[in-house]
Amino acid sequence: MSETAKRITEFAAHSYHTWSRQKAWKSPMLIKDAEGIYFIDDKGKRYIDLSSQLMCSNLGHKNKAVIEAIVKQAEKLPYIAPGFATEAAIEAIEALRAVMPKEMTKFFISTSGTEANEAAIKMVRQACHPAYKVISRYRSYHGSTAASISLTGDPRRWYAETARFTVPGVRFAPDSYCYRCPFELTYPQCRVQCAGYLDYMIREEGNVAAIIVEPIVGTNGRLIPPPEYYPILRRICDEHNVMLIADEVMSGWFRTGTAFAMEHWKVTPDIITTAKGASAAYSPLAITATSDKIAQFFEEEVFCHGHTYAFHPLSAAPIPAAIKELKKLMASGLPQRVSAHMKNRLYELAEKHICIGDVRGIGHFWALELVKNRKSKEPFDSKADKFSGKTLMTGRVSGDAMQRGVYISPWYDTLVIAPPLIITETQVDEALSAIDKSLEIADKEAADTGATVSHSTEYGK
Ligand SMILES: Cc1ncc(COP(=O)(O)O)c(C=O)c1O
Repeated sequence: MSETAKRITEFAAHSYHTWSRQKAWKSPMLIKDAEGIYFIDDKGKRYIDLSSQLMCSNLGHKNKAVIEAIVKQAEKLPYIAPGFATEAAIEAIEALRAVMPKEMTKFFISTSGTEANEAAIKMVRQACHPAYKVISRYRSYHGSTAASISLTGDPRRWYAETARFTVPGVRFAPDSYCYRCPFELTYPQCRVQCAGYLDYMIREEGNVAAIIVEPIVGTNGRLIPPPEYYPILRRICDEHNVMLIADEVMSGWFRTGTAFAMEHWKVTPDIITTAKGASAAYSPLAITATSDKIAQFFEEEVFCHGHTYAFHPLSAAPIPAAIKELKKLMASGLPQRVSAHMKNRLYELAEKHICIGDVRGIGHFWALELVKNRKSKEPFDSKADKFSGKTLMTGRVSGDAMQRGVYISPWYDTLVIAPPLIITETQVDEALSAIDKSLEIADKEAADTGATVSHSTEYGK
């Protein structure tokens, strides 16, 4: 064993690997460098980053302007307590006010999406007292600590529940998931029952303070609700005096083609939580943005929340630079062109591979949902399989893609195609031709039913 291999093994033995049984954490790949859409291992092998790491490196790796902003801040003032103003924080708030919906008037800056949601929940529970319940959805992830994991619909919550680490007062609404509609209805005949049902839920539950949604569900499927969905939700929230929280941790920062995904529905939430692309992943950063109504509430009430690293200058420093770079990129037209190209290429892949049940997405945020049987939609693996120790089909496909030099994040039934927004058509082609080969692994175990692939975002077409 080489000296490096020994040190990696020691590192693994003495560090906690996230979301896994530790015995599976033996010899992680050592990454030495990253540039543009690529990252490079210690043997010099280059990988295309088709998932922007954890769907956060929206500008790709080593963006000079963003790095420079952090370096300058580190030299000038790397840390000061949140009770002081800094130029970094002043400029960050100015930049946020210019990019966020104008209704968002006040911001709290922390260091992770989890924290952004924890702050949001505490705020609505204070502001809506005595109402305290929060409605979330099953296909969701909102973070790892007590409140945010309680709001999470995916299996990560199950473990928090058995650890008695959840907060009371969370209810789960049916997903807006047309490919597997929980009501077994079809759009538009369904009349968007998944949204309408929220009215019934709120009336029957009582004490509902807020609804939290990922406007376009991220890890749990890139689910894009129909055009009527959020306008209906907004109306229901207004009628019942319930806050609408948009968790744009993953879907924000031009990932879906607009600054924030909710813009596709022209709906304004009461709170936006975001992180990831906010610094393009160059610093640990998250934002809880609130409407004036919430801001006004805390004029007299104590905003009973904070962190040592709230408004950390090094977290805040990249915000203006990242926003400028993202806007410049969008103005160049490249992301829009590449997104259209990527859609065509993914549709072609979906035609070719019988293991693809549904292809859906928008912007640089796509899912290939793998199924054993297109006709019955039988999945290869269930939600419960995710943490069972079983090697899932999406994991097998992504493992093979990695051998071919393409990093693609798997979740239990989907592959996450979410490259940095700087990716070119040629690079998309290169990555997808590797995925094309990797998908043969799943094809071999899928039934050839002659059924066609579904494009569940193409409502009514
Ligand atoms: C929608 C959403 N909310 C919250 C989080 C939690 O963010 P973090 O991992 O930065 O705590 C994530 C992370 O993936 C996310 O996708």
